[in-house]
Amino acid sequence: MVLNVCILGLKCSRLVNWIAAFTAICFSTGWSYAQAEIKHEAQQSRGAYLAKIADCAACHTAGPNSAPYAGGLGLNSPFGIIYSTNITPDPVAGIGKYSYDDFSRALRDGIRKDGKRLYPAMPYASFTAISDDDLHALYDYFMHEVPPVASTPPTTALPFPVNQRWTLLFWDAAFVRHQRFQPHRDRDAQWNRGAYLVQALGHCGACHTPRGLAYQEKAYDEKSPEFLKGAVIDNWFAPNLRNNYASGLGRWSEADIADFLRAGHGGQSAVFGSMRDVIENSTQYLDKNDLDAIAYYLKSLRAPPESSSYKPLASATAQIFKTSLTHPREHPGEGIYQSYCAKCHKKNGMGDLPKFPGLAGNPIVLSENALSIIRLVLEGGRTAKTRYGIEPKKMPAFAHKLTDSEIADVLSFIRNSWGNAAAPVTSRDVYLLREDLQK
Ligand code: HEC
Ligand code: HEC
Ligand code: HEC
Repeated sequence: MVLNVCILGLKCSRLVNWIAAFTAICFSTGWSYAQAEIKHEAQQSRGAYLAKIADCAACHTAGPNSAPYAGGLGLNSPFGIIYSTNITPDPVAGIGKYSYDDFSRALRDGIRKDGKRLYPAMPYASFTAISDDDLHALYDYFMHEVPPVASTPPTTALPFPVNQRWTLLFWDAAFVRHQRFQPHRDRDAQWNRGAYLVQALGHCGACHTPRGLAYQEKAYDEKSPEFLKGAVIDNWFAPNLRNNYASGLGRWSEADIADFLRAGHGGQSAVFGSMRDVIENSTQYLDKNDLDAIAYYLKSLRAPPESSSYKPLASATAQIFKTSLTHPREHPGEGIYQSYCAKCHKKNGMGDLPKFPGLAGNPIVLSENALSIIRLVLEGGRTAKTRYGIEPKKMPAFAHKLTDSEIADVLSFIRNSWGNAAAPVTSRDVYLLREDLQK
């Protein structure tokens, strides 16, 4: 099922407001921001921390001014909108009457207290791997720490036959492996921790693993080369997180990955799109050990074949003076790049880190699927607001400044310059995305 990231996007502005208000209080009381944060983290229960990793608030909060966990966020699915439910401990509107076993059935088996099946928009196929200890801590957090809210979110009303929730029985039987995470004895503790966080709580595959015809994720762990190979989700391409040299994380160090998840920039990239919400709401709050474990695990994933390539330019001089080496012939995108993009991303494509990401050798630029960079150029973006990153920087929107073919040309140019080599973008790709975004 597909997330409506536009609506999710609103919520990060609420988070920003919270942070702003919080910072203002800290300054007026003479606290340093860092001290306050440390205190805040020390007071946080384990259940609250786990809920952050699992990002329960992202889907179960309606918008910037809504009560946390009271539900009502509409998630796009191919069949219509699925509304998230109220998971505060209110006995009528929420899950106040859920026993631990009811809670476990909802999170791991996708079955509500009344026995009806949940749509897989609730990522229970990942949560099924959550350990008993962690599930108890989450239950305690939701029952005793989250304030009850008595509001009832809109009811999901999908058309026949998908409104027949019992039919999900077949989907579940075909695609969900109901099993707790099993540590691999031949791997060390850090690898197992990373695998658990990525597969179970973090549900990274919900966006990064390709889906099959029944919208099921094609794999749930590293045994399959499809796992985290990159996928389209609500008009973003969540890129390949395996070790591919050009279009994956092959040239990122573990520290680059951990920095990216904590600060919103790392390697030479800056986060944008729906991943920004994940970082702002969830991963920036993870302990260093957990971020390092995620990075360590991702670096162990083998690279499937890829069609993009990258050859770092040999000399520093070449990097400064030659704009395009991969395909040195005249390219119509070059002029557009110089006029509209070079100011920030620089003539040599090296960017101005950490303010402006580099484009030479950047895996998102070399992604086999260019959807994310087309969308970013159309809509513009801003980098993440995190506790460790720099002040957010903006990328302007070009939807009204450049035509479909100009956008296709400039993107084909950056995908084939400075050592980059990836399939060109066509003006039809840009046209189709513009149409989809207007819906
Ligand atoms: C990607 C979005 C998403 C995330 C993340 C998510 N949920 Fe859900 N959840 C949903 C949706 C959508 C539903 C309703 C599905 C339906 O109506 O079939 C739901 C339903 C539920 C229900 C069933 C409640 C009821 O009685 O209707 C519970 C309990 C629940 N979620 C708890 C959680 C917890 C706890 C977390 C974090 C560990 C979480 N969810 C994370 C989307 C999400
Ligand atoms: C005013 C400065 C500025 C200009 C001009 C600009 N960008 Fe950007 N660009 C940014 C920033 C800031 C980001 C990070 C965006 C984010 O995080 O949302 C970015 C990100 C990108 C990315 C994704 C790389 C990554 O790792 O995040 C691509 C691709 C890109 N820009 C292409 C272009 C193209 C093509 C143009 C010209 C048509 C252009 N940019 C013009 C500032 C700029
Ligand atoms: C809601 C969908 C969503 C979820 C969930 C999600 N991601 Fe992402 N992720 C994206 C999108 C879209 C991008 C592309 C934008 C970008 O590169 O900033 C991305 C980019 C990334 C990148 C940068 C890769 C690159 O080559 O630039 C990393 C690393 C990453 N995600 C890791 C993770 C991890 C680890 C998790 C789980 C904890 C996760 N993501 C969960 C959507 C998601």
